[in-house]
Amino acid sequence: PTRLIIDTDTAGDDCFSLLLGLLHPRAKLEAVTICNGNVPFEQQIENALYTIEVAGRGGEVPVHPGCPRPIMGRWQAATMHGSDGMSEAGFPKARQRPESKHAVDAIIDLVMANPGEISIIAQAPLTNIALAFLKEPRIAGALKHLWIMGGTDNQVGNITPMAEFNFFVDPEAAKIVLGAGFRVTLSTWTLTLKSGSLPADEIERIERLDTPLSRFFMAVTRTPRAVALRRYGRAISTHPDSLTCACALDESLILESDDVVVDVEVGGETTRGASSVYPPRMVERWPDRDANARIIRRADTKGFADMLVSVLA
Ligand code: BDR
Ligand code: CA
Repeated sequence: PTRLIIDTDTAGDDCFSLLLGLLHPRAKLEAVTICNGNVPFEQQIENALYTIEVAGRGGEVPVHPGCPRPIMGRWQAATMHGSDGMSEAGFPKARQRPESKHAVDAIIDLVMANPGEISIIAQAPLTNIALAFLKEPRIAGALKHLWIMGGTDNQVGNITPMAEFNFFVDPEAAKIVLGAGFRVTLSTWTLTLKSGSLPADEIERIERLDTPLSRFFMAVTRTPRAVALRRYGRAISTHPDSLTCACALDESLILESDDVVVDVEVGGETTRGASSVYPPRMVERWPDRDANARIIRRADTKGFADMLVSVLA
């Protein structure tokens, strides 16, 4: 199995990435770490704990709260998942409580105790990962793989015209992490729109399952589905985080990818948090910059939907 830490700002699709980590036969989720991001920090902790309970794994996977604020960013809640991040579903409080050990230390300890064994799915602003690297730089070599959901493929963003939410909230952290020497795969918002958006018939397939987890899916995605319909004019459900986790669990879902140089804009008035992805043929113009990530350009939407359905069933 793939031994995982999921670093999450649990709201909306973050939950389904957690469900894949908790329930997919190929995954062994060893810890959940919480980072600032989508909704107020304490709420994100509760959302993660409830998701673990709904998966029937309450008390089995530790949840470590991390950095409640970005390094330099001005945190602002994402509105598309509702004020609680769960489409105001009114879920009860989970029995499991968070650990007292800080996420940064949990990441360092797990990775350093198991060199070459642990992969991280980073599906929130990168504050926790950046601070873990600054505290213990050897994690860059000891981590098996870092799967990052963030940025765009030189395309429009989802929080400003130029920036994707996770990179926008903490661009300094993203820049530190991308320059740290981790083995990185990048799953962008551009990829979400191309390959990680479930069409109406897949959403209906999930609804028809009528299991506790399919009902959880329909409830949690209610507000983001309404936002997507307004924004994109189509009844779709967007899955940036769970698509990233799915690709980590089954790399055959990655249909096209390239080794690229990725950087993040930390200045900029209208461009702060924007990612720049240098196409391979241009990298020779920046000879001091080696490829620092594999970017996923296209993924298997049907295969991803099948994986999600198998877990929700
Ligand atoms: C990312 O931003 C957050 O709102 C989502 O949880 C996802 O990780 C998409 O841009
Ligand atoms: Ca997220």
